Amino acid sequence: MIKIFPNFEELTEFAAEKFVALAKTAIKERGQFTVSLSGGSTPKALYELLASDRFKDEIYWKNVRFFFGDERNVLPDEDESNFLMVNEALFLPLNISADKIYRWHTEIEPPENIAADYAEHIENFFKGFPKFDLMLLGMGDDGHTASLFPYTAALKETAKSACANFVEKLNTTRLTLTFPVINCADNVVFLVKGTDKSEVLKSVLEGEFQPEKFPSQLVKPESGELLWLIDETAAALLER
Ligand code: 6PG
Repeated sequence: MIKIFPNFEELTEFAAEKFVALAKTAIKERGQFTVSLSGGSTPKALYELLASDRFKDEIYWKNVRFFFGDERNVLPDEDESNFLMVNEALFLPLNISADKIYRWHTEIEPPENIAADYAEHIENFFKGFPKFDLMLLGMGDDGHTASLFPYTAALKETAKSACANFVEKLNTTRLTLTFPVINCADNVVFLVKGTDKSEVLKSVLEGEFQPEKFPSQLVKPESGELLWLIDETAAALLER
């Protein structure tokens, strides 16, 4: 399903209400809510809104377990760190205790060991292949999602839950959950905003199936729900 919003504020509010609704259902039915958080700049407003007076008492946060869809190969106190962004926007304001947070241990070397360590941690937590209640995703202006970039090795990963992915154009190795994990989630929600995403969004949603070029096209939940939350500027070129 695709939902288009006149502005980013309304998109973020809807995303917060969706997060709360899914959390309440999961906690009621299973006693806990497992969410894989996306990085980058777009979801920061959502995390801040969830931690605000408006939403902070809506969820019993002690029953939420936080994971990360991907991470940059930097230490958790470095500016580029997705953990740092979420820690400042959500975890610290809500006083989330460390044992509820499953971050990539980027202190480990080399990146392959970071990925193996994360895979072990999340598979131990889920007692098998990870199945998240909610997978939050963003999309880059090149059609990548998580750190599954065009023409990179991780696009072909069919077994591992987490891997280190060398991204030539960034000349760095990213850490990312894989498509088998993304597509195993009960709910997958994309947050996409901005004119700079409008062309690639049209290709991803309405164009030819070219998954190497547009990896976000590989997001097809097996049995879960897929929801695109898009603001008007990013949706500008879509057929209505
Ligand atoms: C990351 C993200 C990545 C992000 C897109 C969009 O670590 O960068 O997980 O997949 O969602 O790059 O980023 P923006 O929201 O900043 O446009």
